[in-house]
Amino acid sequence: MKRTILDILKSPNFNSKIKINGWVRTKRGSKNVSFIALNDGSTIKNLQVVAEANDFDDDLIKLINTGASIEVFGTLKKSEGKEQSLELLASELKILGEASTEEYPLQPKKHSLEFLREKAHLRFRTNTFSAVFRLRHALTFAIHNYFNKNGYVNIHTPIITGADAEGAGEMFKVSNFDFNAIPSNEGEIDYSQDFFGKQTNLTVSGQLEAELGALALGKVYTFGPTFRAENSNTSRHLSEFWMIEPETAFADLNDNMDMAEEFLKYCIKYCIENYVDDLNFLSQRLENEEKGLKKEERSKLGLIERLKFVLDNEFERITYTEAINILRNSKPNKKKRFQYIINGFGDDLQSEHERYLVEKKFKKPVIITDYPKSIKAFYMKLNEDGKTVRAMDILFPLIGEMVGGSQREEDLERLTKRMDEMQIDKKELWWYLETRKFGTCVHSGFGLGFERLMMFITGMKNIRDVIPFPRTPKNAEF
Ligand code: 4AD
Ligand code: MG
Repeated sequence: MKRTILDILKSPNFNSKIKINGWVRTKRGSKNVSFIALNDGSTIKNLQVVAEANDFDDDLIKLINTGASIEVFGTLKKSEGKEQSLELLASELKILGEASTEEYPLQPKKHSLEFLREKAHLRFRTNTFSAVFRLRHALTFAIHNYFNKNGYVNIHTPIITGADAEGAGEMFKVSNFDFNAIPSNEGEIDYSQDFFGKQTNLTVSGQLEAELGALALGKVYTFGPTFRAENSNTSRHLSEFWMIEPETAFADLNDNMDMAEEFLKYCIKYCIENYVDDLNFLSQRLENEEKGLKKEERSKLGLIERLKFVLDNEFERITYTEAINILRNSKPNKKKRFQYIINGFGDDLQSEHERYLVEKKFKKPVIITDYPKSIKAFYMKLNEDGKTVRAMDILFPLIGEMVGGSQREEDLERLTKRMDEMQIDKKELWWYLETRKFGTCVHSGFGLGFERLMMFITGMKNIRDVIPFPRTPKNAEF
């Protein structure tokens, strides 16, 4: 395999001849010598290439602009510069792809994240986004690694689904109807003539299918794209996002919470241990970004300290009822500073309340359990009180809801009763109900929003900046 800049920096062989490819980040120097900062995406660090004017044509050097791709052949030398320990003294230089200074949008100066979102096809080439997307890879790997080590089987649940009963959100329709001539029958759309012979949608969650797997394979997880057609244009919502959904047989809510906490800590630890250069860069970036904020709006801990803090502390576990009591008696509630005032049991928690609990009250991740059944999905296990369900949400500082999960109702009678109460079509979910009819058992699972965890780990404040090509209302460019 061809050696990358990362390989060379890790184990440099001084005075050896090497050939390297990459993109020019900057070029500086004098009449006599040019210093080229070369990056090939393998690391946040650049390789300094030294090109002496005597050895090369002026016209060639002129084409070595920010953004150009080049090939360099040369000798690896110890560097006298403060910034780097080694450099490549070029003997041959080849321009592979030019980038004109007048036209290339990413010049060596600070670009705003908003500007770079419009240049999503090129933003991979910046330090910030190359670090973010290397970490996205790291996190993906850590997730699969955790489950593999713990005996979980990865299953692929369908992206096109015929079930829309999960109730997790508005769905995108999947159809190959000619929009100008949609078949109808007595004024109603006739889906029997559609591609699948029924109404189909893009999935909002793989949970219901994952449960089927868990009730045979014991421990399963999905990691796939999910789609929600809500019109929520916030810094924490995407219309297309990735979700990790483990489902464990013979596990109750406590087992589920223990696993979720261990899993989150494992993923964060993996990134710290293996991607410290990228995290250091992003930490510095965050510090610079926050310099413009008022002191009280700045983060108290640096990025890596914040990650370590999560590793070193147990998540707080409280019930919904306890959370409501804390919120009802809180200053912002009494002084009516919350947009939504908390009155009592049954109120849904908004992101302002979640953030109060994690950022002001407990100052660490909080798991809230036992929500009222009225604000949660039909499949959650009903508690003895008949009012609350065995749900758990994990809330994180700066992010809010990171995980949503529950113990599932495994009792056929109770489950169908709940479906009737919530007017959910039992016929449509006949296959789901059969798992309760045949060999049912206690089981639990949760959904982790991949991009939400990415935001926490990278310190990026907008979810659009942790997925390569974000899909949000009125935005599907690229
Ligand atoms: O809480 P949610 O809706 O839970 C489910 O879909 C369950 N079926 C999961 C399960 O038990 N298997 O979504 C789970 C997580 C949320 O906690 C949040 O982190 C993330 O998915 N999420 C989103 N992330 C980005 N954009 C959105 N629009 C999101 N909606 C949910
Ligand atoms: Mg939720």
